[in-house]
Amino acid sequence: MNRPLRVAVTGAAGQIGYSLLFRIASGEAFGAEQPVILQLLEITPAMKALEGVRMELDDCAFPLLADVICTDDVNVAFKDADRVFLVGSKPRGKGMLRKDLILDNGPIFTGQGRALNDHASEDVRIVVVGNPCNTNCLIAMHHAPRIPADRFTAMTRLDHNRASACLAGRAERAVSDVSGVTIFGNHSATQYPDFQNVTIAGSSAVDAIDDRDYLEGEFISTVQQRGAAIIEARGLSSAASAANAAIDHMRDWEFGTPEGSYVSMAVVSDGSYGVPEGLICGFPVRTDGEGGWEIVKDLELDDFAMAKLQTTVDELQEEKTIVADLLS
Ligand code: NAD
Ligand code: LMR
Repeated sequence: MNRPLRVAVTGAAGQIGYSLLFRIASGEAFGAEQPVILQLLEITPAMKALEGVRMELDDCAFPLLADVICTDDVNVAFKDADRVFLVGSKPRGKGMLRKDLILDNGPIFTGQGRALNDHASEDVRIVVVGNPCNTNCLIAMHHAPRIPADRFTAMTRLDHNRASACLAGRAERAVSDVSGVTIFGNHSATQYPDFQNVTIAGSSAVDAIDDRDYLEGEFISTVQQRGAAIIEARGLSSAASAANAAIDHMRDWEFGTPEGSYVSMAVVSDGSYGVPEGLICGFPVRTDGEGGWEIVKDLELDDFAMAKLQTTVDELQEEKTIVADLLS
């Protein structure tokens, strides 16, 4: 057996935490041969609920679960952490935009960035889920200068999965027939889900669906608004699908994307596709299975796509301006 990976999860007693922890402990993120130690962070008033979650983890008797640490001290939670899911933060309610959360949630990521800087392992890999996740990731990264910027990512995988399911449904094909989806930009209502480089069962999605108005209109807005639609229907924001996307994100980073394919991850921009350097932006990303990743730079984006990309990048810049005092 391998040395246990220390996996920190913040907001562990929350909705997403409740769907996420059991899947990490069962081996779905890091593999069936990889023991894990869960290092679970909550705010003090939620420690009793977290204790209940720990009891349930114990009751599963997961063979891969080497230990569970429950704490309200970020320095304990991030001690030697190898993999980190930054989930803990407020979700939005009906009628809110994700960026309305920025002033409440942004400050959480200053202290957590510093604690990661001080305590995380050399090989740490971090995914930010808490919204607005791109900008929260930017804040955490800013406060962790010891940690290479390529270890910080934010989650656009839920949007990616939504777009894949939408295109498969419209083309009346299986989701496994869809490849080449990218969510460009912000995890927000301005995101650009690219369909121009998607294939469905080997044919271009544009040909397979043969309805440009749908692709440029309803498809994009459905993916952009899916989180709000779930809040409207459930009264709560997505949780099981968000946890599933976080597992997909970390698993693909861990084991690598298959030859010739890529997935959507929000990573630090190197200027690709004209996105200003340093922004945390959704891109097509290929991972090498050893912790490295690269932005796929050669997708063709026409004027329509570039205009959509500009809109979502403008929003990322605007969010960065709003949190300027957290980045100084
Ligand atoms: P939730 O309210 O059910 O749980 C959040 C938990 O975080 C709570 O238990 C709370 O006590 C804890 N928490 C709050 N501040 C904390 C802090 N400083 N340190 C540690 N824990 C803290 O919310 P949820 O449904 O689990 O959603 C969590 C976040 O994930 C929200 O911001 C939500 O908008 C976001 N989200 C993102 C995506 C995505 O695709 N990126 C998808 C779904 C939800
Ligand atoms: C989602 O996309 O479902 C989450 O970001 C929750 C939300 O606020 O939409």
